[in-house]
Amino acid sequence: MPIRFAILGAGRIGQVHARAVANNNDAVLAAVFDPVAEAASAISAQYGAAMRSVEEIAAADDIDAVVLCTPTDLHAEQIELFSRAGKAVFCEKPIDLDSARVRACLEVVEETDATLMVGFNRRFDPHFMGVKAAIDDGRIGAPEMGIITSRDPGAPPADYIKRSGGIFKDMMIHDFDMAVFLMGGMPERVMATGSVLTDPSIETLGDYDSASAILSWADGGQVSISNSRRAVYGYDQRVEVHGSAGMAAAENEHPVGIQVATAQGYTRPPLHDFFMTRYVAAYANEINAFIAALGGATGGIPVGRDGLNALLIAEAALESARTSKAVDIAI
Ligand SMILES: NC(=O)c1ccc[n+]([C@@H]2O[C@H](COP(=O)([O-])OP(=O)(O)OC[C@H]3O[C@@H](n4cnc5c(N)ncnc54)[C@H](O)[C@@H]3O)[C@@H](O)[C@H]2O)c1
Repeated sequence: MPIRFAILGAGRIGQVHARAVANNNDAVLAAVFDPVAEAASAISAQYGAAMRSVEEIAAADDIDAVVLCTPTDLHAEQIELFSRAGKAVFCEKPIDLDSARVRACLEVVEETDATLMVGFNRRFDPHFMGVKAAIDDGRIGAPEMGIITSRDPGAPPADYIKRSGGIFKDMMIHDFDMAVFLMGGMPERVMATGSVLTDPSIETLGDYDSASAILSWADGGQVSISNSRRAVYGYDQRVEVHGSAGMAAAENEHPVGIQVATAQGYTRPPLHDFFMTRYVAAYANEINAFIAALGGATGGIPVGRDGLNALLIAEAALESARTSKAVDIAI
């Protein structure tokens, strides 16, 4: 029998995950909830999912798993609610903006023996998976130094920034997870800096729009991360790992993969405009991995501890940026 899903939150990422669930033959999208009725009804109409309340979904014995695409400040309480209700949970990142709250939430997940996957979609991007495979297969020797570049085409609206937790917890958290994923473990220290270079109104919201971090591992490994909320040439997503026997890199993906050469030089079509188009395959792969894990596959999915790890790095990075000092990362 297919695994019966409910989606909570029918916004930007909710629509992406609804499509992935509906496209998987081992799953059925049975229910949807969003307090904005038009958002829920759009998914309901498209996939035949029933519109139900949060309480009805939690109590339903015909729902096996939920996908939480709700605003970040609802994640921890909803993970706890559905874990206690015996549902498997896929939750978008981050679990919460406070590591103490995440730890309390993960205790409930453990006590209830619930399955929890955290939405670090970049682990499922075919290009980044290729870099990871090159490392795991030993093709570049021991990984020593990494460079992760992650630039958004433009800043999100002020309302989003206010609730987001700031650039380290909202945006760079993906890169922290990618660094742990590629290097194969947690760094022990971070040095970070942040500034406002693109839009002065971001400073009034208490955030940065430009940030850098250097993570260091106990064995001397290093990863350098660069984030900007502005890239006039599109959504810039690159990863490179240098090892003792070589280097593996994932360049930017172009939706149209051509180049034109003339006497004036080379031109290529633009990059993807943002995550919704750049990470289509990654989002589908991660939901498919969740469904496979629920079916008993042992492929490895990012779990609650991975969500906590990335947040612990983000908390240390924020402290480092504020104090201009290197900060040890809690475990
Ligand atoms: N992994 C990624 O690449 C990625 C990308 C975008 C967003 N996200 C994460 O996904 C989450 C949602 O982001 P978004 O961009 O889709 O936001 P969004 O604002 O587009 O959508 C959120 C939806 O949740 C609904 N909602 C509010 N309260 C709710 C409740 N109590 N129950 C159910 N639904 C409720 C809202 O009405 C809205 O439709 C955030 O935590 C964000 O960090 C992750």
